Amino acid sequence: MKTVGVIGAGQMGAGIAQVSAQAGYRVLLSDMDVARAEKGKAGIAKQLARAVEKEKITAKAADAALANIECVGGTDAFAPCDLVIEAATEREEIKRSIFANVGKVLSDTAILASNTSSIPITRLAQASPDPARFMGVHFFNPVPVMGLIELIRGLATSDATVAAVEAYGKTLNKRIVHANDAPGFIVNRVLMPLLNEACFALGEGVATIPDIDAAIQLGLNHPMGPFTLADFIGLDTCLEITRVLFEGTGDPKFRPAPLLVKYVEAGWYGRKTGRGFYDYSGAEPVPTR
Ligand code: 3HC
Repeated sequence: MKTVGVIGAGQMGAGIAQVSAQAGYRVLLSDMDVARAEKGKAGIAKQLARAVEKEKITAKAADAALANIECVGGTDAFAPCDLVIEAATEREEIKRSIFANVGKVLSDTAILASNTSSIPITRLAQASPDPARFMGVHFFNPVPVMGLIELIRGLATSDATVAAVEAYGKTLNKRIVHANDAPGFIVNRVLMPLLNEACFALGEGVATIPDIDAAIQLGLNHPMGPFTLADFIGLDTCLEITRVLFEGTGDPKFRPAPLLVKYVEAGWYGRKTGRGFYDYSGAEPVPTR
């Protein structure tokens, strides 16, 4: 595998492009237009410069990684790709239309993968040129820091596809775990109930936002408390995944907490909107309840 296409130059796509380029792959990074892809690449350049400053990598390695990334608009240039990873907006119709478009130019050996956090892989595969060469490859934010990739095979995914994507993942120095195409896969199946339960506890007046966060962060040694993490992920994303768990299993234990629903209805999505369970407009985050 030599050339990796990454569709979507947002936080996840840029992270995937960065780690792939650092591992020596030629990377085609696309977004709706070249300007957006270039913006993603500029963010990668900043991350690499910071790593050089901290003496984590050499300036030569940073330059080589950056030189491995070519920005393109759309997916017409993706014909040489051996693997294409879609990391676009988490909306099924958008992903489906991307797969249909990129499918027109991909070679008949190329693998198409989605970084979806919750959409069923078997269903998404129906929009791909060949479901045997389609699977889920779930990275975690921030991609350069997080040491895990979840691989999800759909019903039709071939063993050869899984083996090839696993080999790619290992070259990124990430631990690979395999999950079946079940709602939330592994990480979100376990994480979202934790975040959702924190919202129930807050809504029931068990404790305050900072105390619940401190309890989980210091009492369980998590890097972030549940409200800080939910704001980091995006409350809209957390709610959407929780709904996938609830609808996909039919189990009431996954029902979304009313307070989480309210925050999303208010447009308070977390860090990306400047307000979620914390208000980020000042120098320090301030709890909103
Ligand atoms: N990109 C690259 N590197 C980053 C980064 C970013 N966006 N943010 C932080 N880092 C690096 C820093 O440069 C620093 O590197 P160093 O140790 O080499 O100096 C290191 O990470 C630690 O950063 P900081 O000292 O600034 O801050 P923290 O120690 O608080 O760590 C954190 C920040 C790594 C984000 C940590 O708080 C953490 O691990 N949080 C949990 C993140 C998490 O759970 N992510 C998964 C979310 S779920 C998901 O993505 C799945 C989806 O489907 C919902």
